[in-house]
Amino acid sequence: MKRLRVLSLLAVLFAAFFSPARADMLTVYPSRVLHQVSPTLYGIFLEDINCAVDGGLYTELIKNRSFENENLWNPRRADHWEAWSVRNWGNAKVTLENEDPLHENNPTFLRTELEENGFAMIRNQGFGGNVLRGGIPVEEGKRYDLSLWLRFDESASRVAGVSVFLSDAAGNELSPRAEYRGSAEKSGTWQRHEASLTALGSGGAYLTLEATGEGIVDVDMVSLMPEDRVGGDWPGGGMRKDLVEALKDLHPGFLRFPGGCVAEGTYVRSDAYNWKDSVSAPDAVSRREIPNTWGGMLTMGVGYYEYFCLCEEIGALPVPVVHAGLLCQARDVKDPPLTMEETEKYAGDILDLIEFALGGADTEWGGLRALMGHPEPFDLRYIAIGNENWGAAYFSRYEVLSGAVKEKYPEITCIVSAGPVAEGSLIRDSWNTIRRRFADDLVDEHYYMDSAWFPSHADRYDKYPRTTEVFLGEYAAHEPVQGSRRPGSLYAALCEAAFMTGIERNSDVVVMSCYAPLLCREGEVDWTPDLIWFNDTAVYKTPSYYVQQMFAASCGEELVVSETDGELFHSVTRTGNELQIKVVNLSDKAKPLTILLPGVCDQTADGVMLTGDKDHVNSFARTDKIAPQTFDCSCLDGEAQLDLPPWSLTILKFSLNE
Ligand code: AHR
Repeated sequence: MKRLRVLSLLAVLFAAFFSPARADMLTVYPSRVLHQVSPTLYGIFLEDINCAVDGGLYTELIKNRSFENENLWNPRRADHWEAWSVRNWGNAKVTLENEDPLHENNPTFLRTELEENGFAMIRNQGFGGNVLRGGIPVEEGKRYDLSLWLRFDESASRVAGVSVFLSDAAGNELSPRAEYRGSAEKSGTWQRHEASLTALGSGGAYLTLEATGEGIVDVDMVSLMPEDRVGGDWPGGGMRKDLVEALKDLHPGFLRFPGGCVAEGTYVRSDAYNWKDSVSAPDAVSRREIPNTWGGMLTMGVGYYEYFCLCEEIGALPVPVVHAGLLCQARDVKDPPLTMEETEKYAGDILDLIEFALGGADTEWGGLRALMGHPEPFDLRYIAIGNENWGAAYFSRYEVLSGAVKEKYPEITCIVSAGPVAEGSLIRDSWNTIRRRFADDLVDEHYYMDSAWFPSHADRYDKYPRTTEVFLGEYAAHEPVQGSRRPGSLYAALCEAAFMTGIERNSDVVVMSCYAPLLCREGEVDWTPDLIWFNDTAVYKTPSYYVQQMFAASCGEELVVSETDGELFHSVTRTGNELQIKVVNLSDKAKPLTILLPGVCDQTADGVMLTGDKDHVNSFARTDKIAPQTFDCSCLDGEAQLDLPPWSLTILKFSLNE
């Protein structure tokens, strides 16, 4: 008897381990439409963190081009020599001055005072550091647009000259020289000069300026940009092609900008981001540079005009974020919020921004937009007022600011912040206030949580009242810090994917969502994980990037009913006759899956899958270790069979026979 029991137990164990696993079942009801899916459900958020913009997306190759650099962490702050080095031969003095500048918004400029036969050499090392560590990346045969402002004093205008060229560390010339001399009639006035430098070799370079002769020559706003760029005719200059492509490939429904913390500035009010500092024509000379709260400077070369143009370029709706009259509430800032009186005045600036986007060319700010090159309005429909704010001080200011917007532009949707956390009394209190006072507005939630939190909260929005609309403005799965860097692993990405099936199932409530941060320059890490990594010449995308891309590329128009008897995360949408099926297997076991698809006749579907070792990450050395793979999947008699690998996201598209 005992022997028999042992034998039957062994038989059960054998069956459990060796018989083929029972297939999970996913049943799709294509004609049972639950609700519309927001066309802006998946978007992106561009903030100048990790050198995302200056030193990244912005094509300016000269770091500290107008000698305004400040270092927030240095008590004196001024760091105006950043990225520049000087060599002179005793008969020349090179100084930084600020009296009678090119523009009062950026007062510092460089002065060379040359004695007879004087010589001074000034070099810029770009964002890559000195040439041994990268320098300015140049490629043989490629053209680089140079511009700079010079002012020769009367004596220099007769005998002094400035020549500009690219050189390597040893001083070998890597481009022909652009030569400038003063003239008697223009002496004492700032003149803008342009040239095109063709690189004679490839590698890291310095932009080198040599001043020779006698007299005083002033230099400011030295700029160098690759000719090959997006938006070469924008007043700010343009953007890096490969990075713009990477953004476009995310199929973003919207683009949030400029922050994040950047929208609020640093610790003092004078550093707060003022959109008016970011626009100008014909070029960017008058745009007031401000210290970036994440380090370095915001040159404003990518200002509001360039941002709106970028939105058009990548097919995304703009979502500008303006501060709410408070500096960052999460930091120990020095200046108090604006008074209510000041807040009322500040509302005018927000209205001006909307006029800049929407106003006719005959309005003050619409006129500036037209002058900058875009007579037609931009497609502005949203404005976010505040970033990660909460509490009475915020909501009273939000009421004034959003009230002014609603009165003048009732067609614009205002976005109110619910604070920086996912759970607890802060966000509960925010929601209570918002429901009472701002029920028609879109509610901006932000949370960075452990990876495992995301799948276990995939039902978060099932519980939200259907009358509210959420803008999930920042989120990402964070794994434990390893050294100074959290990896963007496949596991984190799949946890996000599981959560995103919940977002999609609730896309009547969550109408917009975006991962943060977007971009990170190698060696300039302020925050991890990030969606896209780049250096001067290469870009790689993280598994989270591919998850965002795969979801956005198959974001349907309507959510349909689907059910599973297994533990898979899933959502099914349709666009006309096309069904989009998303399934996440967040386990270490392969899972056979049967999909029941009434209404789908025999056909082969396009499938795309992201899978691999759960701890794997991409890198510059292995950019595609984790990358989507396409495959075919057949459906016979309304039934499709497939094997979901462990740790995988699978998306299938079938056509309905209707
Ligand atoms: O995304 C990085 C930062 O996280 C943002 O600037 C801020 O809003 C949040 O705290």
